Order: sequence, then structure tokens, then C-alpha cells
Amino acid sequence: MTGASDSEIVLTPLDEPALRRLLEAAVADADALEVMPPMEGPPGWTPERCEAFLAFHRRRCLDPDTAIETTWLVEVDGRAAGAARLQPVHGPSAVEVEAGVWLGRSVRGHGIGKRVTEVLLEAARDGGAARFIASTTVDNAAARRLLTGTGADLDVHGADVDASLEL
Ligand SMILES: CC(C)(COP(=O)(O)OP(=O)(O)OC[C@H]1O[C@@H](n2cnc3c(N)ncnc32)[C@H](O)[C@@H]1OP(=O)(O)O)[C@@H](O)C(=O)NCCC(=O)NCCS
Repeated sequence: MTGASDSEIVLTPLDEPALRRLLEAAVADADALEVMPPMEGPPGWTPERCEAFLAFHRRRCLDPDTAIETTWLVEVDGRAAGAARLQPVHGPSAVEVEAGVWLGRSVRGHGIGKRVTEVLLEAARDGGAARFIASTTVDNAAARRLLTGTGADLDVHGADVDASLEL
């Protein structure tokens, strides 16, 4: 892969088929701890962790009774490569939206995260949000750089970093 400017990047709203493709991408190219909350049990992509990954996204995004965020499958040149999300923080019409992105290892560091973040910022503005927030950790240099690049203010407390950008 070359730079992101040479790649076609498409964000597709998550549905069941896209969720299956997202799981395949996660298993093939990401560490579970990078893409879902920690859970008990042996490390790695065990069948239980794969099921928990599916359940996590169904609960947070696909089930209308429990959904709290919009998630997109990120495709790079037609291949499932990661996920992006926007979550209104205090209910569906909140002015503050929390963003998250993960990409498979093989596509990191080519400017794709930056382009995906631009799409998320545009979606947040289009949705009427006034503030864009995100969290990462001090040791996540790529995420910190990505967030700094948006013009967000970064607040470091211990190992955690909270970013906030007025839209
Ligand atoms: C964080 C993540 C989404 C960034 O996406 P990416 O495509 O790798 O990032 P980009 O190539 O667009 O680079 C964005 C900026 O970070 C810098 N960067 C990229 N990788 C870096 C690294 N390993 N160390 C330091 N800086 C890095 C780039 O130079 C660029 O900065 P610039 O605009 O000043 O040149 C991606 O690395 C990832 O999915 N990581 C695992 C999951 C994760 O940590 N998600 C974020 C949680 S908040």
C-alpha cells in the first residue's frame, strides 16, 4: 500500500454483513484489546471473544432498542480495514459527540486515519454537534498526533488523554 491519497476510502454504515466483514478484519489484522473492551478468558481471538465483538456492536449500534452510536465499516480499496464511530454523549440530540477509530495494522501509518477523522468531523458537524471529543492514552503516539492534527485541545491526566475540539 502507498499513501492514503492513492487509496479509495469508503465509510459504510454498519449492518450485519458489514459487521461480519469487520470481525474478519479485526481477527486478521488487529489485537482484540485495540478494538473492543477487555474481557475475561484466554487472550487472542477465541470463539467467545469473536461472539463478544459481534454482541458489542449489535448492542451499541445495530439493535434499535439499545443503540447509542453510529458505526461505519472503513473500507480501503474495497477491503474491510477498520471501524469509525460517533456517539452523542448525552442522548441522541447531544451537542457533544465522542469519536473513535481503529484500523488494521497493515494499513496504519499511511494517512488513512487522518482521512477517516476528516469524514467523522464532517459527519459530526452535519449532525449538529458543537463539540468533538475523543480519548486515548499517552503511549498511543499515532492517536495523539491524529487528534492534535484536528486542532483539538489535549488534556493529559496520568496515562489518559482527552481531546476536545469546538466545531
Ligand atoms: C490511531 C490510528 C487510527 C491512526 O490512524 P493511521 O492511519 O495510522 O494514522 P495516519 O497515518 O493518518 O497518521 C496521523 C498522524 O499520526 C502520525 N503517526 C502515525 N503513526 C504514528 C506512529 N506510530 N507514531 C507517531 N506518529 C504517528 C502521522 O505522522 C500523522 O501525523 P501528521 O499529520 O502530523 O503527519 C491507528 O494507528 C490505529 O488504528 N491504531 C490502533 C487503534 C487505536 O489506537 N485507535 C485510536 C484510539 S483513540
